[in-house]
Amino acid sequence: MNPFDSLGLRHDGRTLWVLDQTQLPDAEVWLDGSDPSAMIAMIKRLAVRGAPLIGVAAAASLATFAQRGASAGEYAAACGVLRAARPTAVNLMWAMDRMKGATDPVAEAQAIFEEDVRLCEGMARHGAELIQDGEGLLTHCNTGGLATAGIGTALGVIRRAHEQGKRIHVYADETRPLLQGGRLTAWELKKLGIPATLITDSMAALLLRDGKVQRVLVGSDRVAANGDFANKVGTYGLAVQARHHGVPFHPVAPFSTVDLACPNGAAIPIEERDQAEVRGYGTLRWAPTDTPTWNPSFDVTPVELVTSLVLDRGVFNAAELLSGALSQRLP
Ligand code: MRU
Repeated sequence: MNPFDSLGLRHDGRTLWVLDQTQLPDAEVWLDGSDPSAMIAMIKRLAVRGAPLIGVAAAASLATFAQRGASAGEYAAACGVLRAARPTAVNLMWAMDRMKGATDPVAEAQAIFEEDVRLCEGMARHGAELIQDGEGLLTHCNTGGLATAGIGTALGVIRRAHEQGKRIHVYADETRPLLQGGRLTAWELKKLGIPATLITDSMAALLLRDGKVQRVLVGSDRVAANGDFANKVGTYGLAVQARHHGVPFHPVAPFSTVDLACPNGAAIPIEERDQAEVRGYGTLRWAPTDTPTWNPSFDVTPVELVTSLVLDRGVFNAAELLSGALSQRLP
């Protein structure tokens, strides 16, 4: 098997290695993800995360499982359980449906990986055209190389604009409760040398009011046929704030994130996670252990709040989305 060489995955010919994202930014620890049961556990605890990457990683794990001699029954069972490991990101289901029917699982997983790299390039190309020299850009969660096989979705667009020499400044939401912005996006931005400031989620409205942000770019875990989309909880609030302040707001996603079977956002399943994630992080706790909490991992932003959706194959504005452009132009 060719190596799945990306920021968060590696393959040495026999073993699939996964960068444990729960330990970033303090330690870069690589875990063995060759066995689908280990991969399922890693996906559930967000050691591997980001909609495109979980599809790619699950496919690579299944391919390694097949390479090691899994029976047809074992392969099919693992494929089914992997498919259900996280309910909102449709890329995982899309990848598992491809792997289920694959005659050569290793070649199929490699094709899924390479396609994701190309899709990131497409999003970066189209999205970077929107960004003007001197803009302040606000982003949420982590949508970069740690969330995809390539350079990322929203963060890939930002990276490409920086590489083009545009003088941008990124504001990264820390992203409560699991802090993907603080732990992962800040880590990636530093590695890439992109000027950036980390803020808590509750500071975004002030930044928008003060004119520090000219554009908001976010990822997506599932785009419905009408352009409503699910992304990390807090995205909907950003969209409302951006609209109030007249700032353009763009979800960025590959076509594998579009679910034409979902007519609108109300049909997107939203993962609810462990209540303990709201009361603390790791060994640190800031609320009484029995405090009731609510922990939806994603929210849905209605298409009316979207300025345009950046896909790998082009940019669609809200009017185009509402008139059915996704159903007409996607396979
Ligand atoms: O729970 P996570 O960390 O997997 O959530 C990730 C996001 O919400 C991203 O914005 C989304 O997966 C798209 S990024 C490529």
